[in-house]
Amino acid sequence: MFTHRSETNGACTMSIRLPEVFSSIIEATMSPHPVDRYLELVDPMLTWRDLRARVIRVERPTDRTVRLTLAPTRQWQGHEAGQFIQLSVVVEGVRQTRCFSPANAAAGPEGTVELTITAHDDGLVSRYLRKTAAVGDVYGLSQAAGDFVLPAEVRAPVFISGGSGITPALSMLRTLVANGYDEPVTFVHYARKPSDLAYRAELTALAAVHPHLDLRLHYTRGTEDAGMDEGVIGHFTGAHLEGIADHDDADVFVCGPATLMDAVFDHYETAHPHARVHSEAFTLAVPAAIDPHEPVHGELSFTASGTSATNDGRTILDQAESAGLSPESGCRMGICFSCTAIKKSGCTRNVLTGETDTESDTQIQLCINAPVGDVEIEV
Ligand SMILES: Cc1cc2nc3c(=O)[nH]c(=O)nc-3n(C[C@H](O)[C@H](O)[C@H](O)COP(=O)(O)OP(=O)(O)OC[C@H]3O[C@@H](n4cnc5c(N)ncnc54)[C@H](O)[C@@H]3O)c2cc1C
Ligand code: FES
Repeated sequence: MFTHRSETNGACTMSIRLPEVFSSIIEATMSPHPVDRYLELVDPMLTWRDLRARVIRVERPTDRTVRLTLAPTRQWQGHEAGQFIQLSVVVEGVRQTRCFSPANAAAGPEGTVELTITAHDDGLVSRYLRKTAAVGDVYGLSQAAGDFVLPAEVRAPVFISGGSGITPALSMLRTLVANGYDEPVTFVHYARKPSDLAYRAELTALAAVHPHLDLRLHYTRGTEDAGMDEGVIGHFTGAHLEGIADHDDADVFVCGPATLMDAVFDHYETAHPHARVHSEAFTLAVPAAIDPHEPVHGELSFTASGTSATNDGRTILDQAESAGLSPESGCRMGICFSCTAIKKSGCTRNVLTGETDTESDTQIQLCINAPVGDVEIEV
């Protein structure tokens, strides 16, 4: 998979629809070069199995964000509001995969995908996309996944998001609006400044025409850039949620920086313990740490590539990358399963739960497991 800039723009994607059985036969005869490797030489959107997407629109609504509208190939199955996809791009010759949550309302296979990506100061992929993304680019895409979604019967929805965490919340809000939901909805968002909020105009316009939408915008670094009369300055406090209808029986959806999410969890635990709090983190709240009580020892053997490294206690994914390998990865926090590989032997510790596992020939996620002693992994 690769990033390809195609001369053909627009939403129309070429696709071929020969029966699956033919593709298998042809792929088998062309092995080790799958059909898609040949087809991409003709047109990267002409794919047999691979799911890809062409950029059909690029906006840069704020200094730090880029908004991409993607038209996927025929394999796309659509997304539920709040789910995430994995986007693969080639940066400096290396394929990188990151998770992003479509911000558009839930849509079926014919739909497009709207991503709003916030560039992090030292972020590889987010800065690359902010700087270079252009109409016609073709990126690798995964099917949508994740269970941070609206329940079948949502009650008194409250969305609380911070920074880039607005995307799944906005997707759910847009879906409720599209479905004609006419009960009260509360949408609380924290941005640095008004000029940093990519969806400010749309949110205020929505609130103006939907009397049931209670929009509460907060700015953590002031509003002087906009001479504003809306919005409150400051970080989350429970007071920001005062007056919400049916709050004790609410479905609360929170996504944002760890500090915001922790403060929201604490608030609901004490103030509204019966509210159903659904959450999604974009980064690991606690970096994968080396257990200070565990002496680090052993050899990490990557059996498929014939490489090995002296175990330094970090996750197997980090150690594999330091050894010059590029195993598949996405979220790097245990939710997308793209880094799953077979552990042939040895003991590993799950850095999120602390649990150890000594089973051989078992699948593990490289991004959240660290070796305890000698480990053989099929990478
Ligand atoms: C389920 C899911 C959905 C996501 N949806 C979106 C989305 O809709 N829009 C969006 O902009 N991002 C989203 N992200 C975050 C995205 O996947 C990347 O982590 C982010 O773009 C940074 O990637 P990078 O390659 O630029 O940074 P990297 O080069 O991977 O990391 C560079 C540095 O930035 C830090 N960093 C990475 N991500 C964050 C973050 N989110 N907040 C603070 N620091 C961070 C890292 O700790 C590291 O120090 C999502 C993540 C997940 C897991
Ligand atoms: S990279 Fe997503 S689970 Fe490991």
